Amino acid sequence: MPAERITIFDTTLRDGEQSPGCSMNLAEKVRMARQLERLGVDVIEGGFPIASDGDFAAVEAIAGVCRTAAIAALCRTTEQDILRAWAALTGTARPRLHTFVATSDIHLTHKLKRTRAEVLQMTRAAVRLARSLTDDVEFSAEDATRSDVDYLCEVCAVAVEEGARTINIPDTVGYTTPQEYGELIKTIKARVVGARTDVVISVHCHNDLGLAVANSLAALQAGARQVECTINGIGERAGNAALEEIVMACAVRADHLPFTNSINTNELYPTSQLLSEIINCSVQPNKAIVGRNAFAHEAGIHQHGVLSNPLCYEIMTPESVGVEANRLVLGKHSGRHALAARYSELGCELAPAALEAVYRRFTQLADRKKCIYDQDLLALLPPREPAHITAESHTWATSASI
Ligand code: KIV
Ligand code: ZN
Repeated sequence: MPAERITIFDTTLRDGEQSPGCSMNLAEKVRMARQLERLGVDVIEGGFPIASDGDFAAVEAIAGVCRTAAIAALCRTTEQDILRAWAALTGTARPRLHTFVATSDIHLTHKLKRTRAEVLQMTRAAVRLARSLTDDVEFSAEDATRSDVDYLCEVCAVAVEEGARTINIPDTVGYTTPQEYGELIKTIKARVVGARTDVVISVHCHNDLGLAVANSLAALQAGARQVECTINGIGERAGNAALEEIVMACAVRADHLPFTNSINTNELYPTSQLLSEIINCSVQPNKAIVGRNAFAHEAGIHQHGVLSNPLCYEIMTPESVGVEANRLVLGKHSGRHALAARYSELGCELAPAALEAVYRRFTQLADRKKCIYDQDLLALLPPREPAHITAESHTWATSASI
């Protein structure tokens, strides 16, 4: 099957910014948007202009500086929202209006206090107005995965009829499962899109059950061709699908996920780091692709394997995602190979007997201490056994006063 191109829609600056404590000021949003362009995303959702003057100004500024990505602005299905979003997009060559309304009975009854017929009418009017302003209109059916499927199809069909060219099916509350979501996307494809090639199905998954990436990938396999995601997976509550995980899943498992995209993967780690710095929120160490431990090996068997050939325990190279190199972390599970390798990097070539002695002291220390630093390793060296150590390393060790 030939690989098909998918659209990467980044919503770090909109949904991502909705994470508690992750708000960004205008300059930070612009800095991040520039990096997202460097990363190569197709669409940057800059914000929700009606929400605040700050959001309006940020979308306007991003629209003014970004040159390659389309810039999307979010709006509800009201005239005021749509016109405000459109006003923020004036400076961009590729504006996208992204209008949304909820379609689940839970939201209609308890939040919107509208009937199904009213929401259908709101959709029609909103998409029509948006299309009178730009060709690039996206419609999102909020809480799609808890909506009645027949009604969801009816609303989406109206949006398409009025000219929406991207139909987004959000799993707003992170409730669906990969198989169920895949089926839903197939239904939308069959009943709403049909033979049309000018309408793209988009997916937008939240991570409340930790399934956002799995659900997004299942949706791509079922026919979706736009995926909405954020750097580091930030977003409302448990976050959104992580961009870096989706992109690398497609890169590493192209046999199952034959989708190409525009992402420059060696910008993934720098982008993740920049976001962490801006929002002052570090990435969890075991986070896939961009976490501190994603390319770190501690267990002796793993370290031995990686020293022989990284392929033993790495399914992608650190360089491919912009990480400088893998790391062998010395801890209580480490073995002699990694210890000798680290001493060698420090300039100490240990003879087998010396290594054995140092290794015994090392394991005793590692049982007591969580992190073993280079200073600890130097302190473990026998002070009066220069015969086991090269001249160069001995000099160095002496200057370090051990
Ligand atoms: O989660 C959601 O449903 C959204 C929409 C506004 C696209 O963020
Ligand atoms: Zn969302």
